[in-house]
Amino acid sequence: MERKNLLYEGTNKRVYETDDPALVIVEYKDDAIAHNGAKKGTITGKGVINNRITNVLMQMLEEQDIPTHFVAQHSEREAVVRRARMIPLKVTVRNVVAGSLSTRVGLPEGTRLKSTILEYRYKNDALGDPLINRYHAFALEICTREELDVMDRYAFRANAILRTFLAQIGIELVDFKMEFGRLPEGSIVLADEISPDTSRLWDMRTGEKLDKDRFRRDLGGAEDAYQEVFRRIVSNIK
Ligand code: C5P
Repeated sequence: MERKNLLYEGTNKRVYETDDPALVIVEYKDDAIAHNGAKKGTITGKGVINNRITNVLMQMLEEQDIPTHFVAQHSEREAVVRRARMIPLKVTVRNVVAGSLSTRVGLPEGTRLKSTILEYRYKNDALGDPLINRYHAFALEICTREELDVMDRYAFRANAILRTFLAQIGIELVDFKMEFGRLPEGSIVLADEISPDTSRLWDMRTGEKLDKDRFRRDLGGAEDAYQEVFRRIVSNIK
């Protein structure tokens, strides 16, 4: 498998064509942004870590009947994934109050939720990814009802699987964000990444934040936190 033309470059990743039209190569970068681009920086080594964490977790979900775009790890920073038409929606699952939910409803971070929350954001940089509901998604033709039902099902199931797994390694899955794509024949797959960049992971014993909030909030130690999540995940796999 060889890397061909660059198809897309974002803050965190580059996507390349390959000699197979059905497959692309994703390359994870160390660059990081926060607050809709107002804060820019680097988390050294995060590309390697996020590639490996995402690949392990995607494989785990795939084995438990959640279709994903993941095919194989290609190098330290790269993965081969199925080419999908991305749906411009960020699907967030929340188990505990944190981040923007804390601000929006006025509850302190760490407040337990009686049940799991699912949120949707319309993925649009210029608009700052506004929060929308399912009726917006259908009316704006972001996706169909059937597709959203499938995404909801995969999101809840992924949450149950990841939450249980992470609890075994002493990590609380506070919230995380998913993105989905359509394969050429139309079926939905989980795509993008699942990493400390796209989730909130709290040490169950100390409450310490082991995710991108260390960078967003200038807490320091982001590199070590990502490394710690990685170490716990791989030492618990196979
Ligand atoms: O900021 P907010 O509380 O809405 O974030 C919810 C979840 O979505 C967090 O796990 C965060 O890491 C993730 N997120 C993301 N990309 C963004 C914004 C939030 O992955 N641009």
